Amino acid sequence: IKKIGVMTSGGDAPGMNAAIRAVVRACSYYNVDCVGIYRGYQGLIDGDFKNLSARHVSNIINRGGTILKTARSNEFRTKEGRAKAYKHLKNAEIDALVLIGGDGTFTGGMVFNNEYNFPCIGIPGTIDNDIFGTNYTIGFDTALNTVVEVIDKIRDTASSHNRLFFVEVMGRDAGFIALNAGVGAGAEEILIPEEDMGLDRLLESLKRSKRSGKSSSIVVVAEGDKIGKNVFELADYVEKNLKQYEVRVSVLGHMQRGGSPSCFDRVLASRLGVSAVELLLDGKTNLMVGLINNKVQTTNLENAVKGHHAINRELLRVSDIMSI
Ligand code: F6P
Repeated sequence: IKKIGVMTSGGDAPGMNAAIRAVVRACSYYNVDCVGIYRGYQGLIDGDFKNLSARHVSNIINRGGTILKTARSNEFRTKEGRAKAYKHLKNAEIDALVLIGGDGTFTGGMVFNNEYNFPCIGIPGTIDNDIFGTNYTIGFDTALNTVVEVIDKIRDTASSHNRLFFVEVMGRDAGFIALNAGVGAGAEEILIPEEDMGLDRLLESLKRSKRSGKSSSIVVVAEGDKIGKNVFELADYVEKNLKQYEVRVSVLGHMQRGGSPSCFDRVLASRLGVSAVELLLDGKTNLMVGLINNKVQTTNLENAVKGHHAINRELLRVSDIMSI
């Protein structure tokens, strides 16, 4: 392997730049050329490439977003799109790819690898933490810190006004952000897609906490939770049926995807980036690198996408006990 391409794809996540930097610098260390592919798979199809040397990635370890840009490409889902991508890779003499992203990114890599036998290694970068084969995805820790910081502020105003706040956090299909940030921010209840609490139990719990002397409350709701049709309808329902609080909703949205990565995410990205390059140089392919029990380990891309990364039920129990 003489030349490695690196791209970011899907939703961006803080720490992606640190991962790009690690891949570029590991290539440089091992005397392999590195090419940045812009806008994920779409840039692959369009041949939007740039040679990257160790100095091109100076001063990006601390920056959120991704210098390579990112996209969700529908064209790459087609055979014709992938054929164009392969042609550009061959013309540029790129021998292998490092794919930084989430499950959509890895699915693309798998299909491409099956079709063209093209070496691909995945690095998990998504704030959702919903990837099997790693305890943490790059960006998750930073997003948690952002959410906790914001909920701390919401707590100030909630307690001043004796209000109940519903705070919606990201996680289309997964409750990792909600659960961890909810415990970290001391939320009264945490609603996640993996666990159906039911409206009655939610009302009961809020009544109980009011009786126990609480004058305000914060409920963290994952975007993908199904208890209400959406968080505004849920808040409306609770306000009408509880009749004990003025209720407000705060949807945190894309602020959770931005910001300077935490030290944890930078270290994780650096470790996984180096390992991805080393695996390719070792002739490995179709794998994702992840961190399990603080060791860098590999998982088949297929398992990374299909496997179930279970939420930590102990955290649910801790949250229950804490909201007494
Ligand atoms: O997968 C990351 C994520 O931030 C999800 O939590 C969220 O549902 C989704 O991306 C939002 O996607 P977009 O930025 O395309 O609106």
